[in-house]
Amino acid sequence: MLMCGIVGYIGKRPAFPILFSGLKRLEYRGYDSFGFFVFNPEKDFLLKKVGKISDLQGDFSNVSGEIGIAHTRWATTGEVNEENTHPHYDCQKNIFVVHNGIIENYKELKEKLISEGHKFSSGTDTEVLAHLIEKHSQSHNKIEEAVSLALREVRGTYGVVVFSKKDPQKIVAAKLGSPLILGINGNEFLVASDPSAIVSHTRQVITLDDNEIAVLSPDKFFILKEKPIEKIDWETEEAQKQGFPNFMLKEIFEIPEAIEKSITGRMILEEGLAKLGGLEQALGKLKNIKKITLVGCGTARHAALVGEYMLEEYAKIPTKVEIASEFRYKNSILDDQTAVLAISQSGETADTLEAIKESKRKGSIILGLVNTVGSSIARETDAGVYCRIGPEIGVAATKSFISQLSILTLITVGLGRQREMSLVVGRKILENLQQLPELAKKTLNQSEQVKELAKKYSGYRNFFFIGRKYNAPIALEGALKLKEIAWKIHAEGLAAGELKHGQIALIDEGFPTICICPSDSVYEKMKNAMEEIKARQGKIIAIATEGNEEIKDLADDVIYIPKTLEMLTPILVTIPLHLFAAYLGMELGLDIDKPRNLAKSVTVE
Ligand code: AGP
Repeated sequence: MLMCGIVGYIGKRPAFPILFSGLKRLEYRGYDSFGFFVFNPEKDFLLKKVGKISDLQGDFSNVSGEIGIAHTRWATTGEVNEENTHPHYDCQKNIFVVHNGIIENYKELKEKLISEGHKFSSGTDTEVLAHLIEKHSQSHNKIEEAVSLALREVRGTYGVVVFSKKDPQKIVAAKLGSPLILGINGNEFLVASDPSAIVSHTRQVITLDDNEIAVLSPDKFFILKEKPIEKIDWETEEAQKQGFPNFMLKEIFEIPEAIEKSITGRMILEEGLAKLGGLEQALGKLKNIKKITLVGCGTARHAALVGEYMLEEYAKIPTKVEIASEFRYKNSILDDQTAVLAISQSGETADTLEAIKESKRKGSIILGLVNTVGSSIARETDAGVYCRIGPEIGVAATKSFISQLSILTLITVGLGRQREMSLVVGRKILENLQQLPELAKKTLNQSEQVKELAKKYSGYRNFFFIGRKYNAPIALEGALKLKEIAWKIHAEGLAAGELKHGQIALIDEGFPTICICPSDSVYEKMKNAMEEIKARQGKIIAIATEGNEEIKDLADDVIYIPKTLEMLTPILVTIPLHLFAAYLGMELGLDIDKPRNLAKSVTVE
């Protein structure tokens, strides 16, 4: 299992409600199935179910026991059914295991264990761990020793939490490549795959490092290496919906605040300078770089594509965007005068992580633009900038994308001012950036209008999204979001100029196009593409700049954004596009926080 969520508890309180609420918070990591194990010497509780934990019905008040582990699954190895749901156990049902990651050599290990007499009950890679631990438990009474020996035999990645009835006053947690965090709350301990399952109990956490094994008992814990205790500052209520019907909408409405949080304290306006503390240690090296490679996946890559326009136009640094999953398979020409900037909300995306490991080998300067504090990517990079926008729960990347664009603007000013960018230009960009929270609020005021549009167009099954220059990547983003969230609809995003080279063949009255056409340097060219669509009876929804009345002659519907600098228009234009996807998904009756087949953190290559 690769994405998925883990939570474990050991202490003096009933474990089940703590595991249940923790798992609900982690569900965004995977929601194919879920399971619990709560230890009770009189009567253990083991539950495995297919579906979402939020749909779980029943009275669980009689589940007693102060030690337990739980898991929510996003299926990779083995189909979605109860047998493949975690926790997995050994032959005697003494050892229970929940796992994120992948055991690459599970087939050979399984064959060997079967030949030694072990009986398997699932088709997962994880179950191998339970049987390996069982095997080593025969010669080692301490469960942590058996776990350590078992893990030496596996190849792959894991965040794993184990309980054994043979050594029942402990849970053991171990990690390699898949995140695990310990929560310390007086004489009780939690372990989880991310902080959102822990923050309502404690802010005192330890982030496990690769190859570490933690042993948690009711009143003490130890790890094989001394680790400092950090304090995380996420607000518990940030993980609540606060009156919105879903997290995606809540997070879109948090965009003005997200811009604010991303830029506050990071600008010296009068000098036209960006002040990014996380990059300070690398400033000397950055002054000498000759090129930049931006890597990311999905929406994060779309942010990178906008960044490419910004960095080349304003910082005058040759910039290239690589799809993180392709990066390792190209012979990317990197050296110590190349900066590689990895963009990732979760900081755990395996493709992005592997891309930066590869860049490291080639001696480049590795930078990160990440939201999740202490995440694997944040720890792998030489320097970087945090988004500082709190957790993003909806599977759709919304406020994180806007934060990434805001910070890319700051990075552009930072690097630009080390080079040819003048004080006047630097100041102008920052002044405009500073106004964006207000302009984003203004854009959000049109949400009802976007909702109406979503209703009006909900009968269509195909959409094009087109844009030019800074908004060509936003066309890709609008299309990705629509098909991800309102997945009954197919959408395609493209640079507007490409339309006439092929895709225009599809245009007719049943195939609408969303045209991103703010009043900027490419507006006239955008109008050409719109004329071409109109000539073929295609419906047009335009995203245009306030005050543009002529656009109404070309478009069937118009959503206006306030005027801003051309390089900042993507930030405002994205808002109605994200709203459109959310409202259309809702209109189609879909669960927009958990669209089918997807998970929030993609920790599989
Ligand atoms: C966007 O809505 C997606 N859910 C997805 O494309 C996402 O942006 C991508 O998986 C990258 O994730 P990251 O930012 O956590 O690395």
